[in-house]
Amino acid sequence: MLATIEEIKASPQLLQQQARELQQRLNRSLKTLARQQWPQFSARLEAVLPELLALYLELYGQQFDCYYQLEQLLKLLAKVAGERPAYLCAEDAKPQQWFQSETALGGACYVDLFAGDFKGLEQRIPYLKRTGINYLHLMPLFKAPEPNSDGGYAVSDYRSTQPSLGTMAELADLMAKLHQQGIRPVLDFVFNHTADEHRWAQRAKAGDPEYQNYYFFFSEAERDRYAPSLREIFPEIRRGCFTPEPNSGKHVWTTFNSFQWDLNYANPAVFNAMAAEMLFLANQGAAVLRLDALAFVWKEAGTCCENLPKAHSVIKAFNAVARIATPALQFKSEAIVHPDEVVKYIAPTECQLSYNPLLMALLWESLATRQTRLLTESLKRRFAIDRSCAWVNYIRCHDDIGWTFDDAIAWQLGVNPDHHRQFLNQFYTGQFAGSFASGVPFQQNPQTGDCRVAGMLASLAGVERALQDGNEQHLAHALARIYLLNSVILSIGGLPLLYLGDELGIGNDHSYLAEPAKKDDSRWVNRVAVTDQQLAAATQTDTLSGRIYQQLQQLVQCRAKLPVLGNGTTEILTPDNPHLFAYLRQSAAVTGAASRCLLLVNFSEHQQLTRLAQTQLAQTQQAQTQPANGWQDALSGVVLPGGPLTLQPYQVLWLIPQA
Ligand code: GLC
Ligand code: GLC
Repeated sequence: MLATIEEIKASPQLLQQQARELQQRLNRSLKTLARQQWPQFSARLEAVLPELLALYLELYGQQFDCYYQLEQLLKLLAKVAGERPAYLCAEDAKPQQWFQSETALGGACYVDLFAGDFKGLEQRIPYLKRTGINYLHLMPLFKAPEPNSDGGYAVSDYRSTQPSLGTMAELADLMAKLHQQGIRPVLDFVFNHTADEHRWAQRAKAGDPEYQNYYFFFSEAERDRYAPSLREIFPEIRRGCFTPEPNSGKHVWTTFNSFQWDLNYANPAVFNAMAAEMLFLANQGAAVLRLDALAFVWKEAGTCCENLPKAHSVIKAFNAVARIATPALQFKSEAIVHPDEVVKYIAPTECQLSYNPLLMALLWESLATRQTRLLTESLKRRFAIDRSCAWVNYIRCHDDIGWTFDDAIAWQLGVNPDHHRQFLNQFYTGQFAGSFASGVPFQQNPQTGDCRVAGMLASLAGVERALQDGNEQHLAHALARIYLLNSVILSIGGLPLLYLGDELGIGNDHSYLAEPAKKDDSRWVNRVAVTDQQLAAATQTDTLSGRIYQQLQQLVQCRAKLPVLGNGTTEILTPDNPHLFAYLRQSAAVTGAASRCLLLVNFSEHQQLTRLAQTQLAQTQQAQTQPANGWQDALSGVVLPGGPLTLQPYQVLWLIPQA
């Protein structure tokens, strides 16, 4: 007798028993499918199946075919494990905390823009290694509609690549080479939606009810039960979240563009089908999957259909699936939502990694205001996460900057959040008098006035404007801002992620305006090509690119010598000066003075005085047996006294206690 979800929820023993029976029933067929991997596979299955069963029942317990679907899924897992390449099986056996190292460094790029194709990318491996990169996110490279595929985020087939880049076999080969060179490949798992050209969508359009049930095919009345409470993501491109489908006369759910059809995860066949696509990518060599738009994957009428509890259950179920079939595979969350919601996706059993949009947005906010209160108060509340997980700290990515922060914290600081966001938009699009930035507005919502900002790091940090004005001092400030931003993502704790092109200070590219399929999406201003000539500039000291690249390298190399910056804890400190940002890293795994590092950052272009280092030194003296009378700045090597310190404009200090 199969138990119901209610009975199982009420009894952990019953859950264990059900899982055992299920495994026993399938043992013979699973063993055949898992082949040589059977011993490892069956041990992992035994350990994780109760979790997967509980999640599956929670999501699909009401479906008549729930157990049948689960059995199909388990067979898929065994088959995938049996087919897993040997080098990945070796990865599976290792512990997976590689991202907590002082040398862990990420890069993200579009293959075509950065290197032309897969072959070209292979040729750029030496550059990546020289830069220190050991995690490489290759942005969407799958078969996708032409000419507009939302930058590849509308996928027509998860098992085929864009022909111009090369074949899937060539991608798998490239990923194996990256692994060999110590670089972990990261791919997107675009699982909230497929392109309307995907074969499932094609069948749905042809009237097949089985595939219409892969998506949301709504009557007007059904649509209107959901529509009023939804957020619009691309309001300049189109209004609402639904697209009429002429053949059926129905309305298809499309959160993003009208050609991106949201998948219906209430259907277990969809979960299983997408699990198969996910595991396929894992076996091609992806070490990490970036879970794209994960906040949107579960819908319930009357809610905003973002961050719903069952969205978490879906992701946890995928995680359990990965732990059984492809355990080296890690997930990275792309939740660009309220800070309280972002952290909920981070767990060893959900996403081990997560973008840190709060840090990203507030670093820019602090540079604009020269004040760090919002940054400090926000991170005090929202930086701590599970110790076995990590933030992916970034400054820029291929998308826009949305001004994410908790309105309640802003109000507490006497800041009106809406006015503040307006100010930040004005500032970064260069409309605010005295602004250093040259960004571009993205998706102004005519109803709410909401807006976001696009632009490359160098343009937003002031390089572009300083060059236009021929102002040397402004240029020096712009370079100092870039150095400052890099210093924080490299030292605050987590995996720093460079958006390739930014390390060379490449500026905005407005050529997208001449392309009809791109001109309405200003994010293209920050999706720039990187030429051989530009790469060559990295080693030249007399070019601006070279200076930007080398100041970054200095930070990367200094960090690599400080293990406390890898696995240490982070405490956000309250500075005694409103222009300074301060945090303390500590590690019990490091012996001696370098088990502590005090980081001070001046967000203004004026000198700032602080006594924070003095009070921290007193605490260091108490905590450590050896005497500490002053500090050494790990970045410059300069020894500083234990008294009050003066930071130069935009100066950054990485302070280690000194006897
Ligand atoms: C993510 C991607 C973005 C895309 C969206 C829809 O946010 O980063 O580029 O538009 O998902 O897939
Ligand atoms: C993301 C975010 C949204 C972002 C968009 C495209 O998923 O939720 O804020 O701007 O997709 O960049």
